[in-house]
Amino acid sequence: MKILVIGTGYVGLVTGVCYAQKGHQVLCVDADLAKVTQLAAGHSPIYESGLDVMLDAQIRRGTLTFANAIPQNADYDIAMIAVGTPARADGGPDLRNVFRVVEELAMTLRPGAIVATKSTVPVGTALKIKRCLESLRRRDIRVASVPEFLREGSAINDTLFPSRLIFGVFDDATAQQLQQLHERVPAPVVICSPATAEMIKYASNAYLATKISFINEIANICAKTGADVVEVARGMGLDARIGDAFLRAGLGYGGSCFPKDTHALVSLAGELDYDFKLLKAVVEVNQRQRRLPMEWLDSHLGDCGGRKIALLGVAFKPATNDVRESPTLELYQALTLRGARVELYDPVVSSFVTSSRASVPVDRDAYAVLDGADAAVLVTEWPQILELNWTRVHAIMHRPLVFDGRNALHPTTMMDMGFVYADVGRTTLLPELIAL
Ligand code: UGA
Repeated sequence: MKILVIGTGYVGLVTGVCYAQKGHQVLCVDADLAKVTQLAAGHSPIYESGLDVMLDAQIRRGTLTFANAIPQNADYDIAMIAVGTPARADGGPDLRNVFRVVEELAMTLRPGAIVATKSTVPVGTALKIKRCLESLRRRDIRVASVPEFLREGSAINDTLFPSRLIFGVFDDATAQQLQQLHERVPAPVVICSPATAEMIKYASNAYLATKISFINEIANICAKTGADVVEVARGMGLDARIGDAFLRAGLGYGGSCFPKDTHALVSLAGELDYDFKLLKAVVEVNQRQRRLPMEWLDSHLGDCGGRKIALLGVAFKPATNDVRESPTLELYQALTLRGARVELYDPVVSSFVTSSRASVPVDRDAYAVLDGADAAVLVTEWPQILELNWTRVHAIMHRPLVFDGRNALHPTTMMDMGFVYADVGRTTLLPELIAL
């Protein structure tokens, strides 16, 4: 099939490359000319294992091309909208990019073509797109919601071997066409209304975020009782009704999806006059979780002013260079506000921009960052951090204070080495319980 993908962010780019790999003819469009030029030369602007190789292979094979505008008289079977939907001030997503694209598509797509949303959009968006096309006298264009469930860091695998395919459609013919497009994708298919498809995406992300906040609250109680949250999660996860995924306690969820989507769903519920109490609490717990290292540093260092603090990991999770909503950024701001000298390490991120638009450099040498530090906080569980020579780290730090924000290091080993070590619900904070 001939596929148009609009937007070459994480979702759009990976989707485009994977459809091309399946043998479809794909044109990826992005308004950013510099990005398009980089992509056309086979270089991915995002760090995703295996993406550069696949990108280059599909360009050479002739199945994947790039452009910085939607072509006139486009003879495409399907147009996938994967443009950004940034959060508005009230938490809801800004859909102006989506509707700008729909208006352009209305002027160019052939009759019978499908316009499908891949970006996460509020429930009811597909219907609005349908109405918009009708008002532009394009009743002959079909509309669908085909949400994406890929994770950064395993995006290609998640796209080629998805857990499920969700086709939100208004008619059977569109469902059939979508099934044809995905006939070589080994996954169960759910055919439903577009509103249901849109809600499946939000509900999935909100539920995963709920699991994370739940285990984080359990972890906080574990810290006060002597229970070990990692073992608790293992014991819970063995119950198939619960499952062991997304029960890793830590500094909470970040990234471009969970924070935005949980806010958007709370906001959508509010617009419908429904108070989504549970999800509001999930968001609140996540915000509180991020403050744990700061509280711990305050209690151990007293005043952070003038102290050197090493932040280990800047990406919001390992295997990506994405820093959006990374707890490190918040921690960096809080520490610098208190006058601390903050140095950062990450194996792939080389800098980031603060909310006041200052560019902050990130070191690739963890030992240089830890040298002379008064405390270290592990924020991202990169293997490169876990594999550091911690005996050497102990020797070079000014004070051996380590807060393990991802429960990634071994508590007893760290304490045996002489570190003053803390984590999120593994080691108890109560000395009398340590003795038990
Ligand atoms: C998430 C979903 O997992 C994907 O299914 C979805 O397609 C995507 O959002 C999206 O909506 O586009 P992603 O944001 O790439 O994917 O990352 P995850 O692996 O889900 O991790 C999200 C955050 O949760 C990270 O900050 C991670 O550190 C945190 N997390 C995850 C935990 O704190 N504990 C866990 O047990 C799992």
